[in-house]
Amino acid sequence: MIEEQVCFLTRLVPEPGPRLLKEAFAEVRGNFEERNLDRTELLAGVREADALYCMLTDTIDAEVLDAAGPRLRVVSNMAVGYDNVDVSAATARGVLVTNTPGVLTETTADLAWALLLAAARRVVEGDRLVRDGGFHMWSPTMLLGGDVSGKTLGIVGMGRIGQAVARRSTGFGMKVLYTRPSGPLDNGSVPAGADWLHVDSLEELLRNSDFVSLHVPLSEETRHLLGRREFELMGPHGVLVNTSRGPVVDEAALVEALAAGTLGAAALDVYEREPELAPGLSALTNAVLLPHLGSATRQTRARMAEMAARNAIAAVRGESVPHPVNPEVLGAG
Ligand code: DGY
Repeated sequence: MIEEQVCFLTRLVPEPGPRLLKEAFAEVRGNFEERNLDRTELLAGVREADALYCMLTDTIDAEVLDAAGPRLRVVSNMAVGYDNVDVSAATARGVLVTNTPGVLTETTADLAWALLLAAARRVVEGDRLVRDGGFHMWSPTMLLGGDVSGKTLGIVGMGRIGQAVARRSTGFGMKVLYTRPSGPLDNGSVPAGADWLHVDSLEELLRNSDFVSLHVPLSEETRHLLGRREFELMGPHGVLVNTSRGPVVDEAALVEALAAGTLGAAALDVYEREPELAPGLSALTNAVLLPHLGSATRQTRARMAEMAARNAIAAVRGESVPHPVNPEVLGAG
């Protein structure tokens, strides 16, 4: 038990997260319901907490950090992405930020493939047609999609999740092109026999890929990485899959490209102004739309909840923190 110390939890998370927190902290307070806190509740609730356990849907900026006050030691984000947290503001206040990498890699890669296949083979349109009573007879021309096997998959951002998506393409006999800011992967990271080729530019990847899957974190460099020009490079048969962050794609330009047919199809798990959709997006039949389900399996959400709890507990105890985002804070003072 950490004497006197308080953890503020912004919403209900799966076990064992809450149990671990309750075992470790003198008090765990916050929101134990299936809803997001509004800003006023967050600012009021976080006061004098030692640990803030939050979600990607919470904006943790200087105002929230200041509302918490000087006791705050750690912001534990239950996500691998942490673009919702102002890390510089946290660092400036000596507050550690942590995330949950690794545990959601395979689950998110599975979902990227579910989206890719759904868009290529028009799975959602087919389901809708059957439910609407439109399936009268097999037809040689009904809902024709595009082949996946033997095609080229472009991976933008070949980190953990990008590589997991690429590994799955082997069974489809696909060639993989990828961009990676730090250059080509070393040979040990490429599975034997895999046809993975590092390309120097996004343009080269987009021109030469049939499917493009995004796996970059959101930053000022990646905001609107793909817009009208990039969709034109992908072309009328190109398929875009996004399981990273919505603002990496210019969503208004995406709607235009899909409506005009300059881009073939898109399969999205994330949106620029989540949970809002760009006007016109939901009416497009060549868009497959999911509600940010990348890591949404029972097993993975439990692992994420546990990892976020362990990060918060270790930070407050002054122990080695499993996944710090701004480890320089640990060295300071
Ligand atoms: C993350 O962890 O960043 C994911 O988007 C959650 O699914």
